[in-house]
Amino acid sequence: MKRSHGYYAFLQSRPTETLLPGLFLAARSLSRTSRQQDIEQPLHGRFKVSYDYPVLFTDHLFDPNNPCLHRQLTTQHGVAATVLVFADEQLLQSAPQLLKQIEAYFACHAADLHLLAAPIAVPAGELSKDPQVLQQLYGDMLNHGLDRHCYVLALGGGAVLDAVGYACATFHRGIRLIRIPSTVLAQNDAGIGVKNGINAFGQKNLLGAFYPATAVINDFQLLTSLTRRDQIAGLAEAVKVALIKDRVFFQWIEQQADALASFDQRASRYAIRRCAELHLEHITGAGDPFERGNGRPLDYGHWAAHKLENLSHHRLRHGEAVAVGMALDGLYANARGLLSNADTERVLRLLLKLGFCLCPPELLLKDAQGRSQVMLGLEEFRQHLGGQLSIPMLKRIGESVDLHEIDSALMEQALLRLSTHSAPQPGLSEGCGP
Ligand SMILES: NC(=O)c1ccc[n+]([C@@H]2O[C@H](COP(=O)([O-])OP(=O)(O)OC[C@H]3O[C@@H](n4cnc5c(N)ncnc54)[C@H](O)[C@@H]3O)[C@@H](O)[C@H]2O)c1
Repeated sequence: MKRSHGYYAFLQSRPTETLLPGLFLAARSLSRTSRQQDIEQPLHGRFKVSYDYPVLFTDHLFDPNNPCLHRQLTTQHGVAATVLVFADEQLLQSAPQLLKQIEAYFACHAADLHLLAAPIAVPAGELSKDPQVLQQLYGDMLNHGLDRHCYVLALGGGAVLDAVGYACATFHRGIRLIRIPSTVLAQNDAGIGVKNGINAFGQKNLLGAFYPATAVINDFQLLTSLTRRDQIAGLAEAVKVALIKDRVFFQWIEQQADALASFDQRASRYAIRRCAELHLEHITGAGDPFERGNGRPLDYGHWAAHKLENLSHHRLRHGEAVAVGMALDGLYANARGLLSNADTERVLRLLLKLGFCLCPPELLLKDAQGRSQVMLGLEEFRQHLGGQLSIPMLKRIGESVDLHEIDSALMEQALLRLSTHSAPQPGLSEGCGP
């Protein structure tokens, strides 16, 4: 007992490491390693967010008897919805009855919709995609005390939707947004998707955010105050999406070209709806809604279009510039042996028949070193994509392929060929103006 007592006392009096040095060291090093491993192991922040927003088609949205907007503003919450409206200045001027209609609509629904102020005018078109206008939008949102439960209604063309959408995406880190597109291009493309943004530092869409709207409501009646030029410009995106995705739709556009060029209601309604549907299918179904990868089939014709828009200081409409970009890339694909002569001819013929000018003066601009200014757009597009070029090109009507290298000499030849291509239809050639 005594001995054992002494032994235990001895044990207690000695630091453990003297007694079981091997074991202790092994344990200590094990725990160190596992602590180190713990530190080196990454933590994971992993979650999924799913989006579900309707794209609705209607007429006379602000008729108090039309349930469309009221339903969107009230179904989700059960409490009165607070709303602030931003609208394209040109839209308000071209459709002067709209202001009163909007106010009357909210007055009729005062029980569960609260309009914070009279609709606020936003500079027309591309002028709205400007950092100073963005500041103004934030100022309005702040002055009217918008919080994350309020709704913004954005009425306008693609440009105003992009700018107001960006303000909504960033104000309080996200305010509910209902897009009400008022141009053909916005109803069939820009308003449908998830991108928002403004131009900055001389670059188109340099600042922006992916931010889906709560709902998109296309009111065909809003398009009736558009100039014929803007009614036609928006068709470029319908031709584009048909070219890359839907041969049958392209054939239909060919057959309806005269009706579409005169903005026949039946034909235009179908073209807008089918184009919106194809865009939406791609954005929501191709697995890359926030464009993390490089492939961008919907950007067919856009590398040159963005450059042309900038070179024209936005005299050219987005759709007009896209039409030129598609024609140019069609000729390039033809020169590369990708697109047949017959298909190339069909593309050019359709664009001209719809009334597009395929050779605006900006196409031939040179810089001080005599280099084509449009060609510089390729490099800008590469940078925008993050290094690797990925340009969709047609293999045939209805099918595209991504090219990662562009032969500059061949592209310049395509440019020259386009500049000598047939003249636009008489009376429908504003895109060709100085
Ligand atoms: N976010 C996207 O996914 C996406 C996609 C395609 C294009 N865009 C952007 O959309 C913009 C082009 O859009 P757009 O073609 O609609 O041009 P736009 O927004 O510039 O509008 C064209 C003109 O029509 C006027 N307008 C708008 N509605 C009107 C109406 N109902 N009556 C009379 N005038 C009216 C505008 O004030 C403008 O002068 C570009 O900035 C482009 O980058 C965005």
